[in-house]
Amino acid sequence: MEKVWVAGAAMNRFGKMTDTGREAATKVALDALDRAGLEPKDIGYTFVSNAFGIAEKQAHVGPLINTSLGIPEVPSCTIESACSSSSAALHEAFVHVAGGFLDAALVVGAEKLSHLDTLASTSYFAMGADYAYESRNGATFPGLYATLATAHMHRYGTKAEELGAVAVKNHANAAHNPHAHFQKPITMETYLGSAPVAWPLKLYDCCPFSDGAAAVVVVNPEKFRNRLKAVPALIRASARSGSIAALQDRTDLTGLPASQLAAEKAFRQSKLERKDIDFLEVHDCFTIAEILALEDMGFYPKGSAARATAEGETALGGKLPVNPSGGLKAKGHPVSATGAGQVVEVFEQFNGMAGKRQLPGPSLALTHNVGATGGSCSVHIFERV
Ligand SMILES: CC(C)(COP(=O)(O)OP(=O)(O)OC[C@H]1O[C@@H](n2cnc3c(N)ncnc32)[C@H](O)[C@@H]1OP(=O)(O)O)[C@@H](O)C(=O)NCCC(=O)NCCS
Repeated sequence: MEKVWVAGAAMNRFGKMTDTGREAATKVALDALDRAGLEPKDIGYTFVSNAFGIAEKQAHVGPLINTSLGIPEVPSCTIESACSSSSAALHEAFVHVAGGFLDAALVVGAEKLSHLDTLASTSYFAMGADYAYESRNGATFPGLYATLATAHMHRYGTKAEELGAVAVKNHANAAHNPHAHFQKPITMETYLGSAPVAWPLKLYDCCPFSDGAAAVVVVNPEKFRNRLKAVPALIRASARSGSIAALQDRTDLTGLPASQLAAEKAFRQSKLERKDIDFLEVHDCFTIAEILALEDMGFYPKGSAARATAEGETALGGKLPVNPSGGLKAKGHPVSATGAGQVVEVFEQFNGMAGKRQLPGPSLALTHNVGATGGSCSVHIFERV
């Protein structure tokens, strides 16, 4: 197996874009290539994620992005895995480069839904759930994650203030992130006083609807080592797992089996242990999701991550910083750009580009990206080269 490096990664500011998904994807791809020191003609394949391109009346966007990049002859395909689409695309790029089929690949995720209202966006997103049993009967993602939160509260006594600690921390981190959708800290009072969305989840438990785009350039170091401009990240593990998709078919709602399985695979692949990891970017589409991620991946025993978060262990200065970028909660969640956006945070942290949210010399980072309520999940581990 060949080694695979992340040579460059870039994103735009998540939030509301005036660009189309295709325009934004092209711009961040050029930025990621520029950060790497490479050019479009170096790319052998473009793996695109754009799960809700049809909301812009555009499918098959890969050839359009490659045409804008000046490489229309380069193959492309669109990879859809709901909210984990661009980490699934990264996995495909990894497999191709590791297998020796490509020397360099571009991963680019883009999403634009801000021209739709909340009802329409909610309806699009709900297509990622089980239509026959969940969405058709009115289930939405806030409702489905509220079900998971309720189960966790019931079994472990998880408190609203502990979920609130996730929101307060992630908004505080995002306040230092120029890429973030929300760049204002919030207080616990603001959190507790925010409007109910789906009990027990309130406004500040939820990620927003964000537009955004992010790109990652992966290379075989043997071919490009001498041309790179930035500190690369070695992909120590690229793991994916699935699980029963619909909540009603699962036997336990206090965790996501796909997160457990993907993390186990990633730690086996990398031969690392949990204690080796310096920071995590995890899939906190709702505050409860960050708690589940920490427990499912084995960083905290079941039922203990919420309390640890409330005690500050996962804050920027804590013993295991989680979501220094602000996470999906506050950096934003433009579905198909989210997984690639997590890698941008790793790239910026490894390159000392993270400004006031910079961690002191991190060398190992993990990203965790969930599709829907965990029908799919990707876990990647990166090492600073
Ligand atoms: C929580 C949610 C229902 C709020 O939608 P809404 O009530 O229509 O909110 P609006 O878009 O009208 O925004 C109202 C205000 O709240 C803010 N806001 C919206 N969503 C927010 C969020 N998640 N967190 C914090 N603030 C938010 C807006 O910026 C706006 O602020 P302003 O009045 O200062 O401009 C919506 O963001 C949501 O459904 N989020 C979850 C998305 C999702 O399911 N993603 C998939 C995950 S698997």
